[in-house]
Amino acid sequence: MHGKNYCYLNAIYKKPVDRTPIWIMRQAGRYLPEYQSVRSKYDFITVCKTPELATEVTLQPIRRFGFDAAILFSDILVIPEAMGQHLEFLENHGPKLSPRILNGMDIAELKIADIEAKLSYVGEAVEMISGELNGTVPLIGFSGSPFTLATYMTEGKPTRNFKYIKKLMYSDPKALHKLLDLLVQAVSRYLSMQIKSGVDAVQVFDTWGGILPPHLYWEFSGNYMKRIVKDLSKFNCPVTLFSKGGIDLIRQLKDSGAQMLGVDWMTDMQDAKSTAGQVAALQGNLDPTVLYGSRNIIKKEVIKILEVFNGESGHVFNLGHGILPDIPVDHVSFLVDTVREMSMKMHQ
Ligand code: CP3
Repeated sequence: MHGKNYCYLNAIYKKPVDRTPIWIMRQAGRYLPEYQSVRSKYDFITVCKTPELATEVTLQPIRRFGFDAAILFSDILVIPEAMGQHLEFLENHGPKLSPRILNGMDIAELKIADIEAKLSYVGEAVEMISGELNGTVPLIGFSGSPFTLATYMTEGKPTRNFKYIKKLMYSDPKALHKLLDLLVQAVSRYLSMQIKSGVDAVQVFDTWGGILPPHLYWEFSGNYMKRIVKDLSKFNCPVTLFSKGGIDLIRQLKDSGAQMLGVDWMTDMQDAKSTAGQVAALQGNLDPTVLYGSRNIIKKEVIKILEVFNGESGHVFNLGHGILPDIPVDHVSFLVDTVREMSMKMHQ
């Protein structure tokens, strides 16, 4: 790693770039043998809470693929844990938060007073990672969106029907707004800490905003992310909002003030560009399962996305959601090479 690579930041600010930058959501993770090797010795939460280990796994995909940005290794669920819920990651079952947050009384028990102290291990990891990167590529910090965090806090675990969050929303909307308000404060303070510790950009993952009916999306998710963007506007640090749920969410987030919007794979990139390309940079949006496909298919799908921008700045290549654990690593190398090669031609 040598030389400074500002491609990712320049693309966000629509400054000239000589190619389209690429990183991928969940780029540090189980599809990498070197990650598996760390995980065979330490459990997931230990990796998150040990700055040396978090640094090592953050850097693994940068070393192997030369991505144009690193992303802090952590998890969105460290915030609910810091607020008082018990967090576990069960092998093959994903995360579990307990007890569930079900009503106003449960919400009143949650604490954010010392959130920075409880999450200080994240600040230490950021300092260590940015020291190691030493400006070679930018470091992205992140958080879950208030609505997505509230979803895990009420459901307690991944869910199909989102019964508990919706029950709270329709039976006691004031209580849910109280929880979301508390989460905005927690997220803004947490991201401020990450920025002060050295991240160059932040991304808010709103994985579940799209389960809301469109007329309630702004009230329960978009509006709270807009508040976070405003709280962070005092820093010189671009914010990306990634909501999964199609073109309507891009339309609703257009006026959030975010410098970049993440586009999921179910949204047509040309539609996203026509809808929000004037006000924000766009990130995405290759269907993550394209990476199971042949080289010809991967190349064809990459070109389809790159052609929407055709050499213009304002696009960061990414998947439309996280990479899956059984994607072959050589397909990822091929993806990175293809994005580099094809986008360089379009930028001439
Ligand atoms: O992108 C990166 O490389 C940075 C690391 C990162 C992780 N989680 C590591 C992780 C990021 C940005 C996240 C965000 C996250 N975590 C989200 C939002 C983005 C998304 O994918 O929708 C959500 C919803 C979570 C909560 C979470 N964490 C779930 C539902 C799971 C289980 C599902 C799964 O993929 O296993 C996790 C576990 C998790 N987070 C792993 C990793 C690498 C796998 C844990 C392991 O090593 O066993």
